[in-house]
Amino acid sequence: MVADLKEALAELEREGKELIAAAEDTEALEGVRVDLLGRREGRLTSILRNLGKIDPKDRPKIGAEANRIKGILQEALEQRSAELEAERRIAEEGLDLTLAGRSRWRGARHPVTIVIDEICEVLSGLGFTRVRGPEAETEWHNFTALNTPLDHPAADMHDTFYLSPGILLRSHTSPVQIRTMQAAEPPIRVVAPGMVYRRDPFDASHAPAFEQIEGLAVDEGIDFIDLKATLAEFARRIFGPRAEVRFRPSFFPFTEPSAEVDVSCLICGGTGCSACKGTGWIEIMGAGMVDPAVFEAVGYDPERYTGFAFGMGPARIAMLRYRIPDIRLLYEADTRFLGQFS
Ligand code: DAH
Repeated sequence: MVADLKEALAELEREGKELIAAAEDTEALEGVRVDLLGRREGRLTSILRNLGKIDPKDRPKIGAEANRIKGILQEALEQRSAELEAERRIAEEGLDLTLAGRSRWRGARHPVTIVIDEICEVLSGLGFTRVRGPEAETEWHNFTALNTPLDHPAADMHDTFYLSPGILLRSHTSPVQIRTMQAAEPPIRVVAPGMVYRRDPFDASHAPAFEQIEGLAVDEGIDFIDLKATLAEFARRIFGPRAEVRFRPSFFPFTEPSAEVDVSCLICGGTGCSACKGTGWIEIMGAGMVDPAVFEAVGYDPERYTGFAFGMGPARIAMLRYRIPDIRLLYEADTRFLGQFS
């Protein structure tokens, strides 16, 4: 009797699988389900009715086997039902749910582009409009109008790439200050990102072509407090609410007074580490009050207007933020590296 029951269960499994696979539509499949597992008339139920006829000690074994087969058949029913549903959708909607998904290409932005966009976004929130100027620039815009005579020592630092006499690849974004002021009257608030070119070596911390971001604000009554407040707020928005700025006296021909602006080291929080060379501060930009000679060059009345300007290198900020040790990585078209920064 026990052997008969075992045999009946094995047959139920075999035949059940065949019937399920052969069901042509959902209705037929439901018929098969009732035939196999239906509670009153189903085949499994009728087999189990004989459980009472066997030795009680054999019952748990047969019961367990019956449960195992019930599970297998239920799973096969579900799978066939999903197949039939997919087939129906292919037929009715032309949609093949059984096709493996295609992996999606995900584009990434260059880390320097991310930083530039973020800086311009923050400055836009502070009232600065994004502008651009030409990369092939006149000597006058690049040097002379910025209070930098061509024989001035500062012009040596910018020893640069000439395209033709009097025309060069701009060595900084500061000439966009001049072009903006030539094109409009104050009040002015602009931010100008773009490439600049210098005869610098190509090593871990220098590149002969790199991005800069220039800022300029001109109006009546702008003073050094406005410069400090704007740049302090800028630093908090870019580097976090606890970021502090420090101004060190410096010199640029087109600003007076001039300053190098440091931000408290975002890596060690100011206690000193290798990124800030133990000082707790990291230089992020040059800045200052626009020199009256610059206003004269563009025809603004220096008695009436004052303003401040600043210039920074977003690649340096990207390197700090993403801990990129070598600037040359930013110039390689290696998507394994660049794809990390989305
Ligand atoms: N143009 C300077 C440079 O490339 C950076 C700079 C310093 C820009 C001070 C400014 C400024 O607007 O106020 O080295």
